[in-house]
Amino acid sequence: MDIIRTFEFGGFSCTVAFYPREEILPLDAELLVADLNTASLVLVPEDIISVTLTPGEKEKQWPAVDSILKLAMEKGLARDSLMVAVGGGVVTDMTAFAASLYMRGCRLILIPTSLLAMVDASFGGKTGIDAGPYKNTIGSFYPAAEVRICPEFLKTLSDREFLNGLAEVLKTAIIADPDMLELMRDKKEDILKRDSDIMAQLIRRCLLVKGSLVEEDLREKGRRALLNLGHTFGHALEAVTDFEWSHGAAVAWGMGKALDASVKIGLAESAWSKKIKDLMIDYGFQLEAFVDKDEIIKAMSMDKKKMRGKLRFILPVSPGDVRIKILEEDLIRSLL
Ligand SMILES: NC(=O)c1ccc[n+]([C@@H]2O[C@H](COP(=O)([O-])OP(=O)(O)OC[C@H]3O[C@@H](n4cnc5c(N)ncnc54)[C@H](O)[C@@H]3O)[C@@H](O)[C@H]2O)c1
Repeated sequence: MDIIRTFEFGGFSCTVAFYPREEILPLDAELLVADLNTASLVLVPEDIISVTLTPGEKEKQWPAVDSILKLAMEKGLARDSLMVAVGGGVVTDMTAFAASLYMRGCRLILIPTSLLAMVDASFGGKTGIDAGPYKNTIGSFYPAAEVRICPEFLKTLSDREFLNGLAEVLKTAIIADPDMLELMRDKKEDILKRDSDIMAQLIRRCLLVKGSLVEEDLREKGRRALLNLGHTFGHALEAVTDFEWSHGAAVAWGMGKALDASVKIGLAESAWSKKIKDLMIDYGFQLEAFVDKDEIIKAMSMDKKKMRGKLRFILPVSPGDVRIKILEEDLIRSLL
């Protein structure tokens, strides 16, 4: 085991560590949640109660959480019983939500298996499910006591899902870790081969950045919002294309638009913006999308409602410096 750090937020303590595959499952786990693609990644002892979900965002609804809770009750789990999730962000979000509800909060350890879940979803305390088409509208803040990571799991992830996670890694590098951008430039081949050592370096750096933002702002009232770089544009593109653009691809497109906006209003230098966009293109991200401008603006207004009328954008300024800005609709249109 190699502990990255123990983070303290909102009265909770969360230890994040790398584990060898064979030791990753806690010996005292009582209920294990995975999906059909991730259940076989760990050797599950017979005496553990396990729930295996159908993979995918469509499952991230109340019935799946209900099935976890009912099984926990049926099997007589107590408040100090340990629930463990092995999977991508869908499994970790749902299990964490179930754990936050069971007996008003039982023990929880998350074992993320997708890159996105390793660098983002499993860490930071946000749990939740979708309500019909509305993403993450029901949930709670309930950080896991531990997040256990094994970069070796990334080997079986599809290219599309791997790239999804890399978008979040790039995002973190732009927000707060310029050296990581250089690492991504220098070690592209090893990264695309999913070399476990280089992936461990990237994951560690991402978690340290996210951890420092979450420690000062668990409930996203301030600086935690910086982690939403590329997301206002990205969410709109996902919605307009009926989720044909995956989350990571849409966020990468959104980061390209945020860079364009920064240059346009004189916040960032165009040479620096181009350097980052070239890196994104090099990794295979598409920075152009042929979509209806009106539809994108309309989709953004959904986000605007959530923010009580103010659509805020995170704009990159210079290496490791991003700012929150409100943009006029005309300017947004000119970027699309
Ligand atoms: N709680 C948070 O702070 C937070 C942050 C970001 C995203 N999220 C949530 O995370 C979810 C997305 O997570 P995701 O991208 O991991 O999607 P996912 O959980 O749907 O996983 C993607 C696919 O990869 C498969 N998979 C996962 N690990 C694998 C492995 N090692 N080998 C083979 N297949 C594997 C899964 O079965 C699934 O089919 C969304 O619901 C999003 O809302 C939450």
